[in-house]
Amino acid sequence: MVKIRKAVLEDAPAIAVVHVAAWREAYRGVVSEEILKSLSIKRRAEQWVNSLSDESYPYRRAFVAEMNGQVSGFANYGPPQDNSLGFDGELFAIYVLRNAQNQGTGKELVYEVVKGMRELGWNSMMVWVLKDNPSRGFYERLGGWYLAERSIEIGGEPLIEVAYGWRDLNKFSA
Ligand SMILES: CC(C)(COP(=O)(O)OP(=O)(O)OC[C@H]1O[C@@H](n2cnc3c(N)ncnc32)[C@H](O)[C@@H]1OP(=O)(O)O)[C@@H](O)C(=O)NCCC(=O)NCCS
Repeated sequence: MVKIRKAVLEDAPAIAVVHVAAWREAYRGVVSEEILKSLSIKRRAEQWVNSLSDESYPYRRAFVAEMNGQVSGFANYGPPQDNSLGFDGELFAIYVLRNAQNQGTGKELVYEVVKGMRELGWNSMMVWVLKDNPSRGFYERLGGWYLAERSIEIGGEPLIEVAYGWRDLNKFSA
């Protein structure tokens, strides 16, 4: 059984482990091997400690999914980095370890994020995802509308991201 709860500071190391492992699982063949190799759990854990301990940090709002007492996924959200698309909130990241996927964890994490946004009075949500990421299908399955494309760089490599949006979170359902 998966349990979703708010992330606390003590979760930083476990979230970092999932973050790095899920990047390596999800982005092999999408971003370069060099970048995947250079990812550091220690550095990620420090970033997560900073995020989760800073009340003013835009990336601090996060949920973790626990399976058998182990963190198997997480999601974080906040005000959009670029609000030119006119959405109240952005799902910044969602990662579920491969061996925990396809069991409803991702959907439960997104439900909690939507609930968290609605508690803040936000009524619309968007997400950016790499164009070549097969997980785009997940957002489409959850009713996200294709919004836009942009060019980004990861470790100096040019990549394309696409945005999906949900205009009315009152109607959010899966
Ligand atoms: C995307 C991700 C979070 C989905 O999590 P998950 O726990 O596997 O998803 P769920 O089991 O909750 O799936 C919910 C629904 O979406 C569907 N779905 C999941 N991944 C899908 C995909 N890649 N394409 C199409 N549909 C998908 C499921 O079949 C399920 O449908 P159902 O409700 O009809 O049964 C997970 O695959 C993941 O972490 N991927 C790698 C990281 C990543 O790319 N994250 C997104 C970029 S920030």
